[in-house]
Amino acid sequence: MSLRKIYHYVFKHKSKLIWGFFFVTISNLFAVIIPRFIGKAIDTISSGNFQMEDVFVQILWIVGLTFASGLFMYFTRKKIIVVSREIEYELRKDFVGKLSKLPFSFFTEYSSGKLMSLATNDISAAREFLGPAIMYTANTITTFVFAFFFMLSLDLNLTLLSIIPLPLITITTYLIGRQIHHNFKDVQEQFSKLTTQAQETFSGIRLVRAFVQEAYEAKRFYEYSEDYRKKYMKLEFFQSLMVPLLIVLIGISQLIVLGYGGLRVINKTMTIGDVTQFFVYINLLIWPVAAIGWVTNLIQRANASIERLWEIFEIQLDESYGEAEKNEPFAFSGGIRFENVWFKYKHELPWVLKGITFEIPPKSSFGIVGGVGSGKSTILKLLTKIYHQTRGEIFIDEIPLDKLEYNLVRSLFAVVPQEPFLFSISIAENVRIGNPDSTDNEVEYYLKLAGFEQDLQTFPEGINTLVGERGVTLSGGQKQRIALARALAAQPKILLLDDPFSSVDSETEKLILNNLFSHYSNTTKIIISNKISSVWFCDKIVLIENGIVSEEGTNEELIKLGGKYFRMFEIQELTKEIEQE
Ligand SMILES: Nc1ncnc2c1ncn2[C@@H]1O[C@H](COP(=O)(O)OP(=O)(O)OP(=O)(O)O)[C@@H](O)[C@H]1O
Ligand SMILES: [Mg+2]
Repeated sequence: MSLRKIYHYVFKHKSKLIWGFFFVTISNLFAVIIPRFIGKAIDTISSGNFQMEDVFVQILWIVGLTFASGLFMYFTRKKIIVVSREIEYELRKDFVGKLSKLPFSFFTEYSSGKLMSLATNDISAAREFLGPAIMYTANTITTFVFAFFFMLSLDLNLTLLSIIPLPLITITTYLIGRQIHHNFKDVQEQFSKLTTQAQETFSGIRLVRAFVQEAYEAKRFYEYSEDYRKKYMKLEFFQSLMVPLLIVLIGISQLIVLGYGGLRVINKTMTIGDVTQFFVYINLLIWPVAAIGWVTNLIQRANASIERLWEIFEIQLDESYGEAEKNEPFAFSGGIRFENVWFKYKHELPWVLKGITFEIPPKSSFGIVGGVGSGKSTILKLLTKIYHQTRGEIFIDEIPLDKLEYNLVRSLFAVVPQEPFLFSISIAENVRIGNPDSTDNEVEYYLKLAGFEQDLQTFPEGINTLVGERGVTLSGGQKQRIALARALAAQPKILLLDDPFSSVDSETEKLILNNLFSHYSNTTKIIISNKISSVWFCDKIVLIENGIVSEEGTNEELIKLGGKYFRMFEIQELTKEIEQE
């Protein structure tokens, strides 16, 4: 059973749970005494010869006991349900904590939808087991023991006869409950499909309009909606079946009590009050008995959910630590060396990097050019420990990357990724991700360095402008430059720019490069591009082709070499001339 795995979460709250059990016992003890007084009251009345006070005392007892039972049930919930919410919170916190430590390769295997469902549905299932399941089990056990005891003390035969239909109630709630759950899951999945589709359509509305796909998207939406309706109807069917079926089964129980009990009253071997008591006991037992079926479902569900959650919790992290004294970011000067690095994304895929060797002295600038798919971005992914090289070694300040702690490596670098990601917060807050302490003036300064000054004037709210979901209200080049400002704000030892000027005109590119080289002269800079104009100022440039370094040197050396770099340079100059004409 996977449920064992959450044992230590439960154990932490054991005192509250013990109190919960204690309270539920007391509550049920009060509840099962009530029928005694009902029986007595009825016998008093049916004797025909009674004082009003006699009945009144019984009524007072009934009211008092009901109140006491309710009060203790409230205490029970305060303990057990509260514990389940606390454990849910701890589980979710640990889950998210674990996710944030997992390597990037993990996220290429698990979709965000799946992770969301683990963090919501599965953790809720675990909570339902901890809360309602534990509480109802305790409730069922105590009610059953007490009620059974009182019923037996009244009459053995009637007790045995009247509980015959009870197992059927358990089976019914179990079977229908299972159907309800399956169908509910279907409904939820369909609903998430529906919302994902709607969300994609609206966030990609520009594309939808441009390709005149409105009708197609609408049709898809109607189909999903129709499926959703059908699945919901099925769920409703089972939901509406549950209560009537239970009523029938309860009715059978009551019929038995009434029939057999009635006979005994006629034979004068039982009083009307005794039979009434039985009636009340049977009613007391119904919910706990139904709960057994319900709880069985909850346990099965929680078991499956916990298994899924633990698939993630049990992933081993390879946390490698470097020598302690070197583990401070300021102690690093930012030199990088690749030594015969080979890499493939998966065993069965071809090599992406085939023996890359280069050295970047601290505080120097390094250009990487190459055609599409040649492996440029992959180099950055290895350097930032998103992936691990298959063979060879990477060094930072002559310490193997493997020996350096993950977070330390991250703190050394600031990256402008090829596809910059902006959060749907203001421009300023997006920049502050680089350095949360930046003042407004600093934010503006970094945006200016990133060539965003003129754009900023077109926004009425300046740096406080909200950028819309994933930055939809911005142009590609604007997004790139905000991402650049974010990296600059981090003041890193090493700046990694992956094709940062792909959507920027050559004037702006020149301005930004100027700023970079004058304000970040103490930073090691790696600039990736397939345009020569982005890298030619660099102290050293490598040309990557098909995962190998095919040419390297300074701009002048490479031009003199007359190879591929030179041809790229010629084409660039030619295009410039054509543009100027
Ligand atoms: N996550 C991945 N899984 C499998 N293969 C990948 C993955 N990412 C990239 N690749 C492959 O690795 C090769 C190199 O990709 P990379 O992104 O490094 O190229 P690039 O030089 O940055 O190209 P571009 O100029 O288009 O950005 C490509 O053939 C690509 O298909
Ligand atoms: Mg790339």
